[in-house]
Amino acid sequence: MTEQVPATTGSTLTTGPARREPILEVEDLKMYFPVKSAGLVRRTVGHVQAVDGISFEVPAGGSLGLVGESGCGKSTTGRMITRLYQPTGGQIRFEGTDLAPLSARQMRPVRRDVQMIFQDPFSSLNPRHTVGAIVGSPLRTHDMVPKDKVLSRVQELLEVVGLNPEHYNRYPNEFSGGQRQRIGIARALALQPKLLVADEPVSALDVSIQAQVVNLLQDLQKEFGIAFLFIAHDLAVVKHFCPDVAVMYLGKIVEIADRDSLYDHPKHPYTQALLSAVPDVKQAAIGGRRERIRVTGDVPSPINPPSGCRFRTRCPAAQEICARVEPPLMQIGPRHKVACHFAGDLGHHPDRPVTARLLGVEDDGTPDPGGTPTDLGNKPGFSETWFDLDQRTVTSASGTPERG
Ligand SMILES: Nc1ncnc2c1ncn2[C@@H]1O[C@H](COP(=O)(O)OP(=O)(O)OP(=O)(O)O)[C@@H](O)[C@H]1O
Ligand code: SF4
Ligand SMILES: [Mg+2]
Repeated sequence: MTEQVPATTGSTLTTGPARREPILEVEDLKMYFPVKSAGLVRRTVGHVQAVDGISFEVPAGGSLGLVGESGCGKSTTGRMITRLYQPTGGQIRFEGTDLAPLSARQMRPVRRDVQMIFQDPFSSLNPRHTVGAIVGSPLRTHDMVPKDKVLSRVQELLEVVGLNPEHYNRYPNEFSGGQRQRIGIARALALQPKLLVADEPVSALDVSIQAQVVNLLQDLQKEFGIAFLFIAHDLAVVKHFCPDVAVMYLGKIVEIADRDSLYDHPKHPYTQALLSAVPDVKQAAIGGRRERIRVTGDVPSPINPPSGCRFRTRCPAAQEICARVEPPLMQIGPRHKVACHFAGDLGHHPDRPVTARLLGVEDDGTPDPGGTPTDLGNKPGFSETWFDLDQRTVTSASGTPERG
């Protein structure tokens, strides 16, 4: 379905499906964990830059995928949004209210609306509590239902997530991994949240069970209109769930786009490498093979990340500018942003940096005395103008170049 929306130039144009208002806007969010010295007097000797200035939005009732290798800051992001962690900087606007500075008491009413499903269903459920106590606990804490109605509500929730409602008296160790994750989902649903942060909800499960749990989450989203931030380390897992996907590397978002742009036209070497590791069923069926790109070396330490582009120590396309200047997360299409000086299709990365003129630097990243840096900002969402990589101009949805 398409709809007519006014263009910035005053004419009308056709775009994709109507976009929903964001329920969550994350702007320039940061989490630096202090690193302490050993010994009696423990001084702060550095910081783990676990999340360093990320911005994105999640539409009401929609879902955003957040993907990246182990240690890139996905769980930390989820834990800041649910305010299990106090962010070092930035904003978390939920329905317009910034949650970042709220105290535990101020957060209490919001907790009902923003819930989390945890990464590990084996450690996130208290083994000494029955399923009834686990799922019923948020109902009691938040006085959601009268005391004598808690049991029937727990049974309803167990049924919703596909578990036997008669099993409320059992303990977590009596359930399989997939069933335990369903218990975690029932607990998260108890308060009828508007936003669920699902932190790798299926990565600890057998492949055969993963699809069932993802389908359950998708059904719940449709039925209850819950918005999802769906965290995964594998692009394949979020492909069918999330219309938009953000790729993280070492605390930064390196590419964020709608599904078609990200999976079919990735512009960042890291996204391209992640995608080349995903088996492509369609291509295999026609006898084709996706070129495999290997990212060599280990992920650098977030305590002392590489200068300029954090991916440069492992990037096959890196040049001098990459060590000198951090690539900004630049919008390059209606719903596509990428942070790379040499953003381009796989095997067709440009020879010269696409960013140099915008940043007011020479091609090798040294300052250009005649250059004027453009403020590209770090706002969540997408604007109606972007930098066209082919034309090397700022353009708008109407296709009119606005600036050379
Ligand atoms: N409480 C903490 N104190 C200090 N450092 C931390 C803390 N929590 C996370 N980190 C560090 O922050 C970085 C990001 O960790 P995080 O758990 O967010 O990664 P992740 O993307 O969720 O990884 P995984 O896929 O393994 O779950 C890592 O380097 C981690 O060691
Ligand atoms: S900015 Fe440079 S190092 Fe970073 S991804 Fe792009 S080409 Fe690679
Ligand atoms: Mg994690």
